[in-house]
Amino acid sequence: MLTKKWTVDNADPVKMNYPQLKEAAALLQQEEVVAFPTETVYGLGANALSDQAVLKIFEAKGRPGDNPLIVHITKKEQLTDLVDNLPEVAEELMQAFWPGPLTLVLKSRDGVSKYVTAGLDTLAVRMPDHPIALALMEVAGLPLAAPSANLSGKPSPTTAAHVDEDLDGKIAGIVDGGPTGVGLESTVVDCTTEIPVILRPGGVTKEQLEAVIGQIEVDPALTSQDQAPKSPGMKYTHYAPVAPVFLVEGGLDFLKETVLAAQKDGKKVGLLVTEETKAELGEAGDVMIACGTRSDLSTVATNLYDALRAFNSTDVDIIFSETFPNTGVGAAIMNRLDKAAGHKIISER
Ligand code: TXA
Ligand code: MG
Repeated sequence: MLTKKWTVDNADPVKMNYPQLKEAAALLQQEEVVAFPTETVYGLGANALSDQAVLKIFEAKGRPGDNPLIVHITKKEQLTDLVDNLPEVAEELMQAFWPGPLTLVLKSRDGVSKYVTAGLDTLAVRMPDHPIALALMEVAGLPLAAPSANLSGKPSPTTAAHVDEDLDGKIAGIVDGGPTGVGLESTVVDCTTEIPVILRPGGVTKEQLEAVIGQIEVDPALTSQDQAPKSPGMKYTHYAPVAPVFLVEGGLDFLKETVLAAQKDGKKVGLLVTEETKAELGEAGDVMIACGTRSDLSTVATNLYDALRAFNSTDVDIIFSETFPNTGVGAAIMNRLDKAAGHKIISER
């Protein structure tokens, strides 16, 4: 299949690139699959109301059929056709964080495609905060089911080039709106329980959610490997480059020792570190990729997936990553790193 590509102006897509948006929207109306930027990561969109279109998403990504999709909307009124019961907390969260990187799991209405919900009686929805995502949905006049636009198991795409790498020839089109901002996926919150539960940490932090609704729980499966996660997608290995990743917990000397030991074993070592660690380490390992600064962890979030992908164009045998505090945006970063590492941690203690 020929994958059409459009470059669209981020600031004013409708005014600057209406013909391009119209073409992409027409493909979506014809049940085709089109990738587009959101503020978190690129999404792989299809008409959320069409079984045929939604099935093409699973096919293109190689996504397991039991992993439900997020439906993206542009206005709250669209919820009437999608969900049954809007609890007060959901209203408060939408008010505070939409449009933005927050996905709400709500009771789904009969009639929503069973492929979107993977047969669950709940539906995940969000209103993205990205001018191109919103404009594309407006022009198409459709809610879009959209997972991250990567092959299943690969890091999510934060540029159109990442999408191209994974899905060229497999989808109808890619709307290039430049790099995404947040860099990690939305926070997923289950609002169907008495106390809402974070199923996936992401762009909106637990602390920010608590400030609006008070009590919120975290799915115990996020911190314990003995529990089945409530969000089906969280059980799969994800975000993984080709070389195995290990998280290294400890001081700078410990990191250096770990690197030297692996090199002594004949391994080419990749290092995933912050700017600060890079400066402190000087020369170390075979390939060092700096990913943001410790003084503002949102920069690490923005660059993390690009850094993980970048190791695939090197010849490293093993990747060591530094770790981050498990609070604020650090919680989402650690969640993704832990998955990329398949929970492999080397600890000083
Ligand atoms: O930022 C994002 O959320 C991006 C952009 C494109 O919007 N999308 C994204 O979609 O990350 P995806 O499919 O890669 O991740 C969706 C997550 C999965 O872990 C899935 O299992 C979970 O949301 N999910 C979807 N529907 C659910 C439901 N009804 N109940 C529980 N979890 C659900
Ligand atoms: Mg994904």
